[in-house]
Amino acid sequence: MCGIVGYLGEKEAFPLLIKGLKRLEYRGYDSAGIAVLGDDGKLQHHRRKGKVDDLLAHMEGRVPSGSLGIGHTRWATHGPPNDVNAHPHLSGDGQLALIHNGIIENYHALKETLVARGHTFYSDTDTEVLVHLIEEILKSSEDLDLFEATRVALNEVVGAYAIAVVDVARPGELILARKSSPLVIGIGDGEFFVASDATPIIEYTKNVVYLEDEEVAKVSLSSGLKIRTIKNHRVTPVITELEMAMESIEKGGYEHFMLKEIHEQPRSIADCLRGRLRLGHGAIRMAGIDDHQQMWTDAQRLIIVACGTSWHAGLIAEYMFEDFARIPVEVEYASEFRYRNPVIGEGDILIAISQSGETADTLAAIRMAKEKGAHVFGICNVVGSSISRESHSGAYTHAGPEIGVASTKAFTAQLAVLALCAIRVGRLRGALDEQRFNRLMVDLSGIPEKVEALMQLEPEIEKIAEEFKNAPNALFLGRGYNFPVALEGALKLKEISYIHAEGYPAAEMKHGPIALIDENMPVFIVATKDAHYDKVVSNIQEVKARGGKVIAIVTAGDSEVKSMADKTIEVHRADDAFVPLLSTIPFQLLSYHIAVKLERNVDQPRNLAKSVTVE
Ligand code: G6P
Repeated sequence: MCGIVGYLGEKEAFPLLIKGLKRLEYRGYDSAGIAVLGDDGKLQHHRRKGKVDDLLAHMEGRVPSGSLGIGHTRWATHGPPNDVNAHPHLSGDGQLALIHNGIIENYHALKETLVARGHTFYSDTDTEVLVHLIEEILKSSEDLDLFEATRVALNEVVGAYAIAVVDVARPGELILARKSSPLVIGIGDGEFFVASDATPIIEYTKNVVYLEDEEVAKVSLSSGLKIRTIKNHRVTPVITELEMAMESIEKGGYEHFMLKEIHEQPRSIADCLRGRLRLGHGAIRMAGIDDHQQMWTDAQRLIIVACGTSWHAGLIAEYMFEDFARIPVEVEYASEFRYRNPVIGEGDILIAISQSGETADTLAAIRMAKEKGAHVFGICNVVGSSISRESHSGAYTHAGPEIGVASTKAFTAQLAVLALCAIRVGRLRGALDEQRFNRLMVDLSGIPEKVEALMQLEPEIEKIAEEFKNAPNALFLGRGYNFPVALEGALKLKEISYIHAEGYPAAEMKHGPIALIDENMPVFIVATKDAHYDKVVSNIQEVKARGGKVIAIVTAGDSEVKSMADKTIEVHRADDAFVPLLSTIPFQLLSYHIAVKLERNVDQPRNLAKSVTVE
């Protein structure tokens, strides 16, 4: 939520900021703004409701000049998306400009105190309060510089923040801080880059420092990078080398990132399995499990926490772990789990699944579980993200940057990692015999090729999209391993096409949703040849008997469902546990093409954000 960029060096800051903001637009896109400090000491400050392009249009070709600047793309929390609430926000005297990602929870109390001291506020934001607070502290003590004043101010703040502050009086420095919202500092040759994630930085340097919670940093052209905690302890910066490739953050000829990411799945799943699934050795290597074998063998229970699409991956994992490892599993929405008083402790393993590794509720859930003594195993896509760093052990999904807001390749990579984990743990606990273990390994290794084959169905799926694009509602059904696929199918469609869609376990249809079925209701059903096939066939008949339109995903060669359904899409045969890696792909393509036909903003659907760092 909200994207932050900053630059300090010798180049012109403005083009860098705009390029960076466009890369970060997936984080929020309801308003954008920049502040650049000119060589004449004047702050050039522009903000606009809408996207970065709206900001540029509003600027009408005026190009701010200067080599220190900050930029922001917003996902509104306090106050509607309009020009006044857009960042950067300025101090009362116009000397300080600040951008912020997160929420200052006690902003109201701070604002009242500041108003009593004569401050005037123009926006509804918590951010404007913070910049005034820093100004107030700066003015109240001559001994404090901006770095110190920011540090002192942050001790008064309750909430989450990643901030960057520019002071007109200090053209050679930029102040940064973070708590619960990510911030990366790129170290170039005589220049510094700042961003919410590494995508705006990778083009210029591979050397980065990830700021930790409650750290304040000063980057200065004369004295380099200095970090302290908000409690004033010195921190030695740790430089990490980025492994990300430039191509991975560009569209590469595709019309949208989402389509590119859908098509990347054969490779991203293969990347995820590579080195871990060792067919030749008859072994699975998962460092996060291998290093804690006793703990996984003795574990009493797994608790999976996640949000959104990652939660759907968690549901499928529940089936896998129960099936392969015979271990009890609970799957929880992180936001519900953290606010209960869950019974959890030593002997429990909490698996946190998060593409971004920054989702606030998931992060809070793992902190709570750690406090209660559970072991936290993190499954993240973004290397170096907060959840990956705060977990005791874990596994990366290696899907590469996912830029489209609707998750696709990150989801299938999560499924691949979870399958590896469940099989590995199943073998470790003796629940899988060697024969089944080997069969599962062979089956899993064949998935990337089967996903590749599904891409050939795109023209066919596009036709189905054309036929159903004007449906006001849609129902997605599945059973067993494919029940979460139905949930994910419905989520994808509603996220990017704004068509109301619901996912249900197929058997539950008769307990309510069946009342909605008529000739205008497309029903998307996963009816692959698995343990539930016959039951799903009955559900299809129930839909057809009420005039509903059935679009079924079937196993190649199926004739029974084909004779009943209005449309069928064939996927290759695979072990029941791995079918979701296949059956989810047609739903992704279908949602994508419906959204394109409805002229929706596929990569940046309204009101959503890729990384939800607010609670
Ligand atoms: C947002 C995104 C979803 C994502 C969810 C959880 O809602 O739009 O695509 O599934 O957050 O995010 P995470 O990064 O924790 O997987």
